[in-house]
Amino acid sequence: MPYQRTKDEVEAALADHDYLRAVGSFAMQHSLVSIYSTSTVVRTPDTVLRGRWAGAGDDLAGESLLLNYRTDNARHGFQLGIGRFYEPDAVLTSCHADLEEDLRETVPLPAPKKLRTGLTAAVTTRRSSRELTGEPVSLAELATLLHHAQGNTGELPYGNPADPHGMIKLRTAPSGGGLYPVTLFVQALNVTGLPAGAYEYFPYSHSLKPVRPPGADPVDPLALYRSPDLAIDQAAVVFTFVYNLHHNSRKYGDGGVVFGLIEVGAILQNLHLTRTALALAGCDQGGYDKQRIEQALGLDGHTRHVVHVSIIGQEG
Ligand SMILES: Cc1cc2nc3c(=O)[nH]c(=O)nc-3n(C[C@H](O)[C@H](O)[C@H](O)COP(=O)(O)O)c2cc1C
Repeated sequence: MPYQRTKDEVEAALADHDYLRAVGSFAMQHSLVSIYSTSTVVRTPDTVLRGRWAGAGDDLAGESLLLNYRTDNARHGFQLGIGRFYEPDAVLTSCHADLEEDLRETVPLPAPKKLRTGLTAAVTTRRSSRELTGEPVSLAELATLLHHAQGNTGELPYGNPADPHGMIKLRTAPSGGGLYPVTLFVQALNVTGLPAGAYEYFPYSHSLKPVRPPGADPVDPLALYRSPDLAIDQAAVVFTFVYNLHHNSRKYGDGGVVFGLIEVGAILQNLHLTRTALALAGCDQGGYDKQRIEQALGLDGHTRHVVHVSIIGQEG
């Protein structure tokens, strides 16, 4: 039986050697093993930096650490994370990402319209517009918006190009590592040919999956997306951008969120340029109730986050 000190003996030893308390608490509490530790790095929470290592007057030590944190090739953990994503099973998972789309009850979308507007015209005439008429958009217009925002447009062969193991499907918007962690949810308010309601866009099958969170009471979408700036009841459709932490953080660690938000920006600009080309009006909405929308869409707010809202309708 190994000798164990009593609590009193430990206290007495600590009184004689005060530094032991600091060492003990450092080891016990002040390092955080990330949930991605097998592929990433061990991080220190910023609250610890603030409390112990930052001077009393420096309230921004945690933010400073986070803003300056960079995942780069010099970090051993990052190399491991990247390495794992070039292994065959990980690449083949990307090849079969379409299997994640549960096609039961989905609404197939019509083929997207081809846009003839020149890029210069679309980029230079795009304006946020809050004047909406309340008239519907067509299902073809919605399909065109979704396809141009983040639809599938190409393939990358994996393995021998002459006899590939599989194809990774690529989209209109760039994505860190081709992992596509951003999903578009559609709240159809006034779309011809589509029952009003919430849907998730499935890019691989170009279809819409109705959202029915189990046990949740139906929420009035006008109350859910209400804004002091925008007449939501005059909009035809609300787009909600959702970032899925698990899709890219297993490769990029906590830096994955930055890549996810860059992708949101790319998809968003595609959406704005497409609605400009279709002569539709629209505006982004920064003021929204993240938790209430997540609840209504059946998202947990931990692994899947609402990160943006944008509305579109007919121009007034
Ligand atoms: C992330 C984001 C959030 C926004 N939130 C709102 C908003 O809540 N209400 C609003 O009226 N406009 C909002 N806007 C639109 C901006 O006010 C608009 O883009 C900006 O004034 C520039 O005008 P322009 O888009 O016509 O060039 C938002 C834009 C972005 C990118």
